[in-house]
Amino acid sequence: GLRYGKVLQLTLAVIKPDAVAHPLIMEALHQKILEHKFSIVKSKDLVWQRQDSERFYAEHEGRFFYQRLVEFMSSGPMRAYILAREDAISYWRELMGPTKVFRARYTSPDTIRAQFGLTDTRNTTHGSDSAESAQREITFFFPEFHVQEWMERLEPSFR
Ligand code: PPS
Repeated sequence: GLRYGKVLQLTLAVIKPDAVAHPLIMEALHQKILEHKFSIVKSKDLVWQRQDSERFYAEHEGRFFYQRLVEFMSSGPMRAYILAREDAISYWRELMGPTKVFRARYTSPDTIRAQFGLTDTRNTTHGSDSAESAQREITFFFPEFHVQEWMERLEPSFR
């Protein structure tokens, strides 16, 4: 089930091109974000050039899925969100479900990837997997956003 603690976090959530192509899925995901009490700090629609995609996924270079992942993520528009919530990082990843869509359908049918994912590549959403990657990824998508400053200002009010 969904767990949460007491730490306010930011995470980067991305709606991938397979879902952006379907307005009803986009709307369902937006509603899910609100329903689960995330604050939307910032959002934007964007399209990646192939080199943006290669840079973002550089750590996976050489893996068997790298080429198709990079190609897919630069194949059409995406929506990126900076989301704030208690335990935002793990909470969003639990809502997404496992990376592999068929595993997701089998083990956690109520997750985003189980419900909307098409394949292991077209798996609907991305979410940061740690505080370090959230910071890196938020900066990658929103270079003008000062993650550190935002956290330092807001954290005390959540204690
Ligand atoms: S790992 O092993 O933990 O690093 O892998 P994981 O975090 O699950 O996946 C890293 C990103 O690669 C994508 N991925 C794939 N794409 C296409 N085909 C296959 N088989 C595949 N396996 C993993 C996965 O969706 C992750 O990208 P994001 O954008 O984070 O979803």
